[in-house]
Amino acid sequence: MPEPVLSIRDLTVEFKTEDGVVRAVTDVTYDLFPGETLGIVGESGSGKSVSVMTMLGLVPMPPGKLVGGEALYKGRDLLKIPKKELRNIRGGEVAMIFQDPMTSLNPVFKIGDQISEALQTHRDGLSDGDARKKTIELLELVGVPYAERRYDQYPHEFSGGMRQRAMIAMAIANDPTVLIADEPTTALDVTIQAQIIEVMRAAQDETNAATILITHDLGLVAELADRVVVMYAGRVVELGDVHTIFNSPRHPYTVGLMNSLARVDLDREWLEPIPGQPPSMISPPPGCAFHPRCAFSRGRERCRTEIPPLRGFGDGLAHLSACHFAEELEAQHVTAALALEPS
Ligand SMILES: Nc1ncnc2c1ncn2[C@@H]1O[C@H](COP(=O)(O)OP(=O)(O)OP(=O)(O)O)[C@@H](O)[C@H]1O
Ligand SMILES: [Mg+2]
Repeated sequence: MPEPVLSIRDLTVEFKTEDGVVRAVTDVTYDLFPGETLGIVGESGSGKSVSVMTMLGLVPMPPGKLVGGEALYKGRDLLKIPKKELRNIRGGEVAMIFQDPMTSLNPVFKIGDQISEALQTHRDGLSDGDARKKTIELLELVGVPYAERRYDQYPHEFSGGMRQRAMIAMAIANDPTVLIADEPTTALDVTIQAQIIEVMRAAQDETNAATILITHDLGLVAELADRVVVMYAGRVVELGDVHTIFNSPRHPYTVGLMNSLARVDLDREWLEPIPGQPPSMISPPPGCAFHPRCAFSRGRERCRTEIPPLRGFGDGLAHLSACHFAEELEAQHVTAALALEPS
């Protein structure tokens, strides 16, 4: 096994709200290895964004509070290094792609100048001419046509999809080691989504950055991810390589997710929502937070009383599940049948 580029350990984050303390992220632990794409999936509110934004110093504190944990990057804890250093790492070695490109682009500056500036901020002595040249190459790489001309346009002159491409160009400008993409295609219509997936792939090929891809879209995960982290109610409930997660999930929530979300890879017409709602993060259910929605937990006292730890499933630590009864799930072949048989 190569050394991970990023190791998240026991990350726990809370928010103080008027209604009480929201435990957004609890004991989140995973590694990101060089060159891989790690998908993070889970329903809205499961803590996907907060878990990555915290390590980038992008969660406002207060109301947020870092309760504990580590985010080791090249042996240093991102949660503890000075703000200024973190700002340097962000946008350089660790770059981000967001759902809304206007989070990264400034409406009053030319697109090309913004990318050039990102280049020059992280590379001492890069001349204006060289920065412009490199920017045009980047815009071409992400598929912005007439890149030379479009260099001088403003964000409002770009369509949504083109803006998304420009943001990706900016993110990869400094050849990042780690690329974090939070819902990069969610706001786009379907045809544009497919194009952006291609652009993401090109960006990864170019930089070979280890990538964290946060998304609701399991089709996107199937296309781009090597491994998958499944989150529920602020915790990691399953982790494994993409084939394992899709073909033999070992957590009832993952099975539910497979059936409830659109999957372009299956081209399936029916969707089966997970019954019930995600729990309150202020007073989550005792035991396994998923038990009130889990048919598999019926009649099983332990699900209601004991928080299931994330544990190695099968041999080794390649596949982890936080279900007390993960082994039985396999024995009954419930998961495979539910997850993969389009009726
Ligand atoms: N600034 C904040 N103040 C209070 N609560 C917050 C804040 N930011 C996030 N939360 C809460 O933290 C929890 C996790 O939020 P997060 O944004 O990480 O979810 P998510 O999985 O990214 O959801 P989505 O798929 O909708 O983006 C949610 O319950 C959310 O309401
Ligand atoms: Mg989010």
